[in-house]
Order: sequence, then structure tokens, then C-alpha cells
Amino acid sequence: MVGKVLNYFIETIGCQMNIYESNKLGLALSAYGVSKVNVLQEANIVILNTCSVRLQSEQKAFSFLGRAEELKKDNPNIKIIVIGCMAERIGFKIQQRFKSVDLIVGSKDIDNAVLKIVNLCNLYDFSFDKVEDFSNIVRYVTIMRGCDNYCSYCIVPLVRGREIGFNALDILEESSLLIKNGTKEVVLLGQNVNSYRYKNFNFTSLVKSLATINGLERIRFMTNHPKDLSDELIEMMATESKVCSHIHLPMQSASNKVLKAMNRKYSYEHYIGLVKKLRMAVPNIRITTDIIVGFPGETKEDFEETFKAVKEIRFGGLYVFRYSSRPDTKAANMFDNTSLKEKKMRHRLILEESNKISVEIVKSMVGNAQQVLVEKIKNGVIEARTSGGYKVFVTGGSEKDLGRHLNVSIKEAKVNSLFGDIV
Ligand code: 5AD
Ligand code: SF4
Repeated sequence: MVGKVLNYFIETIGCQMNIYESNKLGLALSAYGVSKVNVLQEANIVILNTCSVRLQSEQKAFSFLGRAEELKKDNPNIKIIVIGCMAERIGFKIQQRFKSVDLIVGSKDIDNAVLKIVNLCNLYDFSFDKVEDFSNIVRYVTIMRGCDNYCSYCIVPLVRGREIGFNALDILEESSLLIKNGTKEVVLLGQNVNSYRYKNFNFTSLVKSLATINGLERIRFMTNHPKDLSDELIEMMATESKVCSHIHLPMQSASNKVLKAMNRKYSYEHYIGLVKKLRMAVPNIRITTDIIVGFPGETKEDFEETFKAVKEIRFGGLYVFRYSSRPDTKAANMFDNTSLKEKKMRHRLILEESNKISVEIVKSMVGNAQQVLVEKIKNGVIEARTSGGYKVFVTGGSEKDLGRHLNVSIKEAKVNSLFGDIV
């Protein structure tokens, strides 16, 4: 394909880790002179980054591949590449069903994706120093791979493999490099960052070391496991000013019976204890969570407990999922007793309650001053974020505000975004 103008389109399904990996891949491709397009029809390299966590995510991938295949009928030069968890799990099935797919790279082999794409498309390294159009102010850094927790519903340990903490010195170096290039906020990623280990480092000492990097202004991390969230880490969140006042702490359920069947290894009482400790230590901390409804054996009473917990804890946002049986997981052998209709209802009830609470929380911020970090400026409108992770749109800024902290007075609030004026 040398000599032709090459564009890639990348569709990303799934978690933050996938978003990070797609961005990294995009950046690497831009060094080969391949630029990003936002319309599938304009691309000659089509990449699909897949997720296996829920059946729905896999169905989404199949329907995307159907569309890509249609395009290839008109233009056989298009290359179709599938990467990520589905590629790892059922790569051969994808290849069977979609003959037009040119390359499959599983999540365990993701480090070789660039090389394989370069070979497939005959790309030539121009070492283009081109920065892609996503914000450089906030960047993701993966600190570990895999997961050892084997929650009974979850396919991640099966496709991503055992947990491995990356070399702490590499993480520090990668972050320093990002900071030199203008990044202000680093988001540390892992399936369970709390259990991070590398030689003498644990997660807390890793974050403390990162915090000493000059020019690094904010540190966020996800995701956390309630069984591994230590007092040491809570204390560090309270004292280290660079660490954001936000924690994503998946609860999954508030019924101890269900938590046990999920193999989560904590009780609801333990979870509530953590919420209290976090709120004592870090005033105004935003706690967000994940919830699964309709797990095998979840009765109306179990669900009621979760609903009540959502009402009482008042999360600053949550994701709620209908249980989806995944092959080879322990829960796949449990009797899925809840009808789809009932699951949909439980899903809706949690979502409605949580949206109501979210709106109340953001409305209570109206009239307050918030310190925000400016991430993007588009058509004169500043896109910034609070330490809690709320997006704030600010009018009246200029290019020079990019990457700066601003004091903003909040004048309007919607479910997940705020609007404000510079103080
Ligand atoms: N069904 C429904 N939700 C699931 N999750 C993980 N596996 C499943 C499944 N089989 C949810 C969990 C997890 C989030 C990333 O996805 O809530 O925290
Ligand atoms: Fe899956 Fe549980 Fe590991 Fe999270 S902690 S990736 S839910 S097995």
C-alpha cells in the first residue's frame, strides 16, 4: 500500500483499557503516515477492538464486522483487522464467519499488533511526528495485565490471563515522558490496581513515586476491588494532593448471598465500611460503582438490598449491567433464574434511582466554585474536569488555558456535565 493515502478507522468496544490500547495503536500508526478518520466509509484500514465481558459486546462486534464486510465488497483493498479479547477468545470463529477479515490479534499478543498491521499493509516508517487529535493533557498508562480474581461471572481472567504487574520503573519512565510532552494527568489502568505488585512496589508506593514527578498534576486510577482496598491507600488518597478525589469501586451487589456466589470475597458490611472510611478521609470524594442485576439466584429480596444500598450510599454515578452468562465461567453452570423482562426491570429501577441521585448531586454544585483542569478547547469552549471527574464546559477561555487549572463558578448542571464561568 506504499504511496497511497492511508487512513484508519478504529471502533472500540469495551473498557478503558481498550480505549487506551486503541489510542496507543492509533499513535503508532500515525508514525507510519496513516491518519485517523472518524467515518468508517472513508477508511482503508478498518480496526475493531473487541470486548468479551458481555454477550452484548460480542454481538456489537459481529454487527460492526457485517458493516465492514459490506464496504469491502465495493473496495476489496480495504484491510479489516480485529484485535482484543474476542480475537483472543474466538479468533478462529471470527475468521470462519467473516472471510474478509485480514488479521486477528488477540489481547495476549497486543504488543505485536502494530508490527503485524505494518506487515499486512506494507507500511513504511515515515516517523511522522504527528499528534493525533485526542487530548494530550490526560493520558492512560497501563500498570498491569490480567486478573487473578475469578469472579464467577467474569471472562476476563480466562481471556486476559494471570495478573502481571508491569515494571514500576517503566511505568515511571513512561509517565515522565508523557509529562515532558505536555500531559498533566495520568490515569493508571488495571483490572484491579489495588493488588498491583512489582518487586518492592505495591500500588500505594507506585502512586507515591509518580506523585514526585514534576509537572504531573493529577493522578487517577481504575479499577479497584473492595477486597484489596487498603487503609494505606485510603490514607494516601487523603494526603497526596495530586491524587483525584474519585474512586471507582465496583460493588456488584449488596446481598451477601449473591456476593458469595459471585466469589467477590467481601461482604456488604465490608463495602459500606470502605465507603465510610473513604468519605471520612477524603471529604467530597466521588464514589462510583458497577452493579450486576439478575445474577443467577438473585431473588427479589436480594435485588431489594442492592436497590436500598444504591439509595443509601448515593453513588456519584454507576454502571448497571444485566447479568450475561459467559462461556467457561463458574456462573455459566448456575441456574439463570431471572427472566429477561425482570432483569430489564431491575436494570431500569437502579438506573432511574441512580440518575435521580446524580442529578441531585450535580445540582447541589451549582453556585459553588470548582477547580478544574482544562483538557480540550473546541470552538472557544473549554472542556475541563473536576477532581471528582465531572466534565465542565466553560465559555470565554483561550488556547493558553489548555492544561491549566482554572477556578470556575458552576452555573448549570445536567446529569453528567456541568457548565460554568471562569472566576
Ligand atoms: N454479566 C454482566 N456484567 C458483567 N460484568 C463483568 N462480567 C459480566 C457479566 N458476565 C460487569 C461487572 C464489571 C464490569 C466491568 O462489567 O460489573 O465490574
Ligand atoms: Fe473480572 Fe472480577 Fe477480575 Fe474484575 S476483578 S476483571 S470482575 S474477575
